Amino acid sequence: MSIAGTENNSPERVPITSLLSKEELPKHVGVIMDGNGRWAKQRGLKRYEGHREGAKTFRRIAEYASEIGIRYITFYAFSSENWKRPQEEVNAILQLLREYLDEAESRQKENEEKGIRIRFVGDISKFPEDIKDKINEAHRLSEDKTRCTVSIAINYGGRQEIIKAVKDIAAKVQKGEMSIDEIDEAAVDSCLYTAGMPDADLIIRPSGEIRLSNFLTWQSVYAEFYYTNVLWPDFTTEDFDKALLDFAKRGRRFGGV
Ligand code: FPP
Repeated sequence: MSIAGTENNSPERVPITSLLSKEELPKHVGVIMDGNGRWAKQRGLKRYEGHREGAKTFRRIAEYASEIGIRYITFYAFSSENWKRPQEEVNAILQLLREYLDEAESRQKENEEKGIRIRFVGDISKFPEDIKDKINEAHRLSEDKTRCTVSIAINYGGRQEIIKAVKDIAAKVQKGEMSIDEIDEAAVDSCLYTAGMPDADLIIRPSGEIRLSNFLTWQSVYAEFYYTNVLWPDFTTEDFDKALLDFAKRGRRFGGV
């Protein structure tokens, strides 16, 4: 079996699939791709060079996750707050998204064989027309795939997502399509960008930062957190395995005893 991104790994590495059963794997992993700027700075490079390297890591980890049987993985690529960054950096991130979307289209057959569904979560209305078109096309081409859903959160904020859900529900109530008594967790869930996905089980944040930063706010209430000092561009499939092994050791009680 070929495992993407294993080129730097030690020869004695034991495949994670023989260490953990399917049941021990998180169903939904969230990843905060942090540390690109510091990675670039350490090398005297521009910040966007860090994002470029980070986008390579994203491809490796997304592919690896789908190969080992993770059903859902969501990457935080651009937060609602990231528009505040210098225009040059915002443009560079948009360009990386364009490149990925073009590549996803040209590698459609391959993705199809791998059963990868690509999904963008967040308010895409603010993006340039060409990116919106490419996103809609990526959604259309992969919507029937079920093996692994790779989601990319862009112009995403957990609070903004909850506000959107509240507005959608209020509109339904106003139109008489729903009563107030029918508002429950499932109703809110169905109005989130992540509708249809399970809650996040594990959130990984590299680069030593220990906070959620408005990521999957509703979906992470029972998530386990995994932090590492590794900067995102240096994050390997072995680091991903470490997070999974750590996750498998946690005793999850979901409020019970
Ligand atoms: C946070 O690191 C990272 C971002 C705000 C951007 C992440 C975007 C990518 C990796 C590219 C996305 C492209 C695709 C195809 C999904 P930071 O810049 O805050 O790092 P720092 O904390 O070290 O400054």
